[in-house]
Amino acid sequence: NTPINEPLRGKYKKSFGYHSLKNRMPVVFSEIINLLKAEKFDLDNKNEVNNTVEELKLLLSELLDNKSLRKVDGTSTLLLIWNQILDNRFKTDSSVTWFETEWLFTENYLYIRIKEIFEKTETLKTYDPFKQMKYKAFAESEKTMITIAEFLNSQLSKKELDNTKLKVLFMQILKICLWGNRFDLSLNIGKSKNITEDPLEAIASLDKYILADNSEETWNFLNKSNNKNPKIIDIIMDNSAYELFTDLCLADYFVTYGLADVVVFHGKSIPWFVSDVTKPDFDNFLNRLQNECSSKSLQDIGKKWNSYYKTGKFVIECEDFWTLPHCYSAMATENSELYNKLSCSQLIIFKGDLNYRKLIGDINWLPSTTFKDALCGFQPTAILALRILKCDCICGLNLDYENKISENDKDNSDYLSSTNYWQTNGKYAVVHFSK
Ligand code: F6P
Ligand code: MG
Repeated sequence: NTPINEPLRGKYKKSFGYHSLKNRMPVVFSEIINLLKAEKFDLDNKNEVNNTVEELKLLLSELLDNKSLRKVDGTSTLLLIWNQILDNRFKTDSSVTWFETEWLFTENYLYIRIKEIFEKTETLKTYDPFKQMKYKAFAESEKTMITIAEFLNSQLSKKELDNTKLKVLFMQILKICLWGNRFDLSLNIGKSKNITEDPLEAIASLDKYILADNSEETWNFLNKSNNKNPKIIDIIMDNSAYELFTDLCLADYFVTYGLADVVVFHGKSIPWFVSDVTKPDFDNFLNRLQNECSSKSLQDIGKKWNSYYKTGKFVIECEDFWTLPHCYSAMATENSELYNKLSCSQLIIFKGDLNYRKLIGDINWLPSTTFKDALCGFQPTAILALRILKCDCICGLNLDYENKISENDKDNSDYLSSTNYWQTNGKYAVVHFSK
């Protein structure tokens, strides 16, 4: 298993990184290949599609055979930055292979290699191999979104709420946003799980699975007046469809009650980790809510969010930094402009598992290590992490966390038979805050 205080690597056979590279990646690849083959392209494209499929298969076998990483081929700024990073890595490290190297590095590298394959074609340069999965995930969560939109439309129309009610509402929407991260397509490829029962009741019943909960501290922080002007809150987004919907709900709350003048959403500049939000995903999502849904509640909320988008209350930015392999403690040196920009924010909300891994350096910390320590100095401003546990790194837990888990899962055979069950099955969550 991964030694304590060391980065996760695919070579540790009991780690989720090993399982992920070895067993999950072939599923991701076969899904992309099937979707690509099923696309109705012009006859002229057929050869290019076939070549692309072959290249994807080669990339997968390179990974499974634990070959050395190589530089990427292409002229876009992002690929050039990646090549500099790879060059530096090759200078300092004699063996840079898929399983030896840090899992965070190789998993990010995988997605840039997928991008490279498409970028060098004539006709598929901007093709998003995950687009259909993201599109389908919208339909699968539509029922849940309707219930939440109805709730939000009725609640956020009450402009004069007293502080107690504002807090209750904040806690509810924060939890909606937290659990929205369950719905990423990279773990259960292509299949987003719909919440079958009433989502608001379901979410309220999940509190016992939150192993560290700083939502109270976050509220206290947001609730006190401060003098930053304009008030900006940044959301470093994760997944499209349902999770994006929940991010927008939280942003709507901030804007409605004056906790932010502007919410900046940060997305990915290229298709990433299957379901992560790109600008086209963001734009299509807002358009689809307003113009393609039969539910009046979704249309209304879509209309409001589109108007926030047009008037600059909601902004989307897609910096290349989010598709590099860096841990966030390196941001100040690797991209000081972005770091300085984020420093002007009231609060940065980091969504999801990948962002969490980058926040805490993808290190196998002792779970009792504080979130602040695990950030390794990264603190441009106040930080909130909303994360469902999907892999082995974790920090900021109280000593009683094991009791909590066994209380919940004492009769569950999976829990009894596997040591990292709770870290990787997407059932548990953390809400960490640091200022
Ligand atoms: O198990 C970890 C993982 O599946 C990684 O592939 C990736 O880091 C992450 O989870 C994706 O989840 P999220 O969409 O929450 O970042
Ligand atoms: Mg994701």
